Amino acid sequence: MSMDPLMSAISQINSPENPMDVVRSIADLRDRVGDWKAKGLKVGLVPTMGALHEGHLSLVRRLAQDVDRVIVSIFVNPAQFGPQEDFAAYPRQEALDCLRLQGTPADLVYAPAADVMYPPGFLTSVRVGRITDDLEGAVRPGHFDGVATVVLKLFTQSGCDAAIFGEKDYQQLVMIRHMVRNLDLPVEILGGAIVREADGLAASSRNVYLSAPQRKIAGKLNVILADLRAKALAGAGAGADLGALEQMGTRALIDAGFDRVDYVSFRDAQSLETITTLNAPARLLAVARLGPTRLLDNLAI
Ligand code: PAF
Repeated sequence: MSMDPLMSAISQINSPENPMDVVRSIADLRDRVGDWKAKGLKVGLVPTMGALHEGHLSLVRRLAQDVDRVIVSIFVNPAQFGPQEDFAAYPRQEALDCLRLQGTPADLVYAPAADVMYPPGFLTSVRVGRITDDLEGAVRPGHFDGVATVVLKLFTQSGCDAAIFGEKDYQQLVMIRHMVRNLDLPVEILGGAIVREADGLAASSRNVYLSAPQRKIAGKLNVILADLRAKALAGAGAGADLGALEQMGTRALIDAGFDRVDYVSFRDAQSLETITTLNAPARLLAVARLGPTRLLDNLAI
């Protein structure tokens, strides 16, 4: 009888058949990277919390175009979850993740345990100012401090030359660009385009939480945002009322069946400051909830 794919994947982890090379300590990671750098190779990092989907795999492929070796880190970072959030329930499936990375240009998986990342006595926290205060920062206090701290640690642990972050978490990407600039980190930051399912829903590890009826509604988020963007652009010459469009978007999301809307907001694409007119590259960002699941999406304008 053939083995269930999940069981088969689990039995392969850390066995000679594991399709991926996995390291768990900072020393082992640095050894590998040191060998590569000694040969003059450029090393890139794709930071993830695992539960890999097509969006993550597209980041691996994109980064591999710019670097010689790609590390994928898998670490469900406790510091970026609030006390009421889904840290315990967050999907953990390292064996399957390694199978998914097979056939991508990933060279190494770095999967540290929590006490490698945060040993006893760990006290430091990185905070990137203003840009993290609103949008996700307002709904998830402390979230971005946890992300900035772990990302900075991943950079210093790996010594990577470049790293890539998905545009789905647009505020996170902007924050990391600021952190790198502000702290003079020698890491080139790339943004990876959002990968969408057939109906436009942005790929996310949290999509697995959606029931079948919720999944149907979820696909409308992108459609409503695209409609708002079209309306904003159509009115741009005459000075579109972006505040009114944000309210219209919120109502449309509730009418479409979402349980709650955290925000629909037009922002400057680089500073993330609120805008009232479209006269520079902008971003339309939104979060709508279905039950406890928060769905993030954004569009370039
Ligand atoms: O985007 C994510 O998955 C996480 O926030 C990251 C960047 C891996 C840090 O834990």
